[in-house]
Parts: sequence; structure tokens; C-alpha cells
Amino acid sequence: MLHVENLTKKLPDGRLLLDRVSLKVSRGEFVGILGASGAGKSLTLRCILGLTKADSGTATLHTEACGGKSYDLLTCKGREQRNCRRRMGVIFQGFNLVKRLRVLDNVMIGRLARIHPLRSWLYGFTDAEAAEALEALRRVKMDMHADRITGSLSGGEMQRVAIARAIFQKPAIYLADEPIAALDPSNSLGIMKLLAPLAQETPVVGVFHQPEMTARFCTRVVAIKAGRVVYDGDPRLSHNQLQDIYGDELMQVLRPAPTTPEPAIAESSRSLPVLANFA
Ligand SMILES: Nc1ncnc2c1ncn2[C@@H]1O[C@H](COP(=O)(O)OP(=O)(O)OP(=O)(O)O)[C@@H](O)[C@H]1O
Ligand SMILES: [Mg+2]
Repeated sequence: MLHVENLTKKLPDGRLLLDRVSLKVSRGEFVGILGASGAGKSLTLRCILGLTKADSGTATLHTEACGGKSYDLLTCKGREQRNCRRRMGVIFQGFNLVKRLRVLDNVMIGRLARIHPLRSWLYGFTDAEAAEALEALRRVKMDMHADRITGSLSGGEMQRVAIARAIFQKPAIYLADEPIAALDPSNSLGIMKLLAPLAQETPVVGVFHQPEMTARFCTRVVAIKAGRVVYDGDPRLSHNQLQDIYGDELMQVLRPAPTTPEPAIAESSRSLPVLANFA
């Protein structure tokens, strides 16, 4: 489905930002990308999307619809590039919604690039398309808010609308960069519960900072450290594996500093919150 091989990105001074990043995403997979801040997670997605030019490597998107067409994501240009971007449903942390528009209009914008500019200017969307957009909103439990102005929604609701917009686009793959970073635990859980069944139909690649969430919902985890893939496998990582990936940052991520002194506990009997979730 998505096959990335030896993706490399360098700074002009030769410093490697991505060092031969490879990953494969197949049908039915929900792949979580983990890694410390600055590891190269977003940059990997940006190169796949053609927003940043990679220096070398390959990235191929094979779509089963449209006669099983394959797109060479790193070299395609012009109309071909626009076509392959339409096959990738993007869900970003900042929601990327137009706040002054109605919720339903924001969902339909997802397909704007697909219809002829003259038709969009003369006629807008058809009733059938509006019904389909409403169905996408129903899927994320936001259909009752279809006529609301998007700017009046909460962050969790906006993220649901952003997912509905990606669903309406009918992509071959979803790429999500920190889709739950701005949300509280309950909304984060809600979004993961939406993404997991979606991935069974259309694969999802998502960047996360919550190993407990990827352990619970993802089918596979890929970890990036200093621009290199250092892990690709079972989403339930051990404490040592997480420590290898995050280094010192692990403690900040998994164990917020206590406000009151903790009672002395033998080091060997300590268990991190994230590991408790694996039980
Ligand atoms: N266009 C660019 N030019 C120069 N450096 C860049 C560019 N894009 C990204 N970088 C650098 O590449 C590294 C990886 O950035 P990236 O945005 O992928 O991090 P990340 O893993 O997504 O981190 P975070 O979890 O904080 O979002 C960072 O050091 C960043 O400053
Ligand atoms: Mg990032």
C-alpha cells in the first residue's frame, strides 16, 4: 500500500535529518510512529506528502481503486502530484479547518480539489455529495452539528470534523500528525476509537506521543530516533525499548515530576504507568 525505502533528508551542511527511513504500511494496518521531539516524525510525513523534498529514497503509494495505480510520491509532479495527494487523507494536530465556515462545508472542502473548478464555482456540491458529507459526520458522531459554525466547536469536536473531512475525501491512506496532541485524555481516547476501525478499511499512519495509546490501538509501531528507524514491530513496547527510543525524555513523558515527596520504593518494584496499561 505505502512503501517507503531509504528516505534521506540532509541539511545544506550535510547534517542528516532523515537517515534511510524505511517503512511499509499494508491494508488493515494502524501504524503508530513514536519518537522524541525532533526525531524526524513529521518530516517523514512531510516528505511522503511531497511538502518537503527528500534528497534520496523512494516512496510508493499503491492504490487498489482506480485500476490499482501506483504513485511515485517523491518524483511525481503537476497533475500527477495533485492526484496522488488526493489519495492521502491528512489529519493534523491543528485541525486545518476554516473556522468561519459551517461544519458540513468544512467536510466537503476535503473533496474540492477533485471536482472541476468550473463546476465548484458554478454549482458547488451536489445533494448526493452533501448527503455523503453528512454520512462522514455521522460516522464521527458530529452529524447533529453539521450546520454549526466550525469556530464554535471544542478542540475534540474540531478534530472529529477534520477526520470526517478526510473520510469524505475517500483516500487510499490516512496520514495523521499528532491527531490527539491538543486533546484531553477522554477526547484522545475518543479519537483513537475512531481511527482504529477506520484503519481496518483504509490504513492509517499516525504520529503519537502516547505509547500507551499506540500500544492499545495500533497494529504496529515504528520508532524514529535522530532520523533513523530504531524499532518496527509489536506496538506493546517494553520499558527498556521505550527508554531506548526516548532516552532521558522518557521520564518526562511517562512520569510527571511528583509535587509531594514519594515514599521510598525499591527500584526493582517500580512500575511505570504506561506498563500498567499493558497488563
Ligand atoms: N525544512 C527544514 N529545514 C531545516 N530543518 C528542518 C526542516 N524541517 C525539519 N527540520 C528539523 O528536522 C528535525 C526533525 O523535525 P520534525 O519536525 O520531523 O520533528 P518531530 O519528530 O516531528 O518532532 P515533534 O515531536 O517535536 O513534532 C528537527 O530538528 C527540525 O528542526
Ligand atoms: Mg512533529
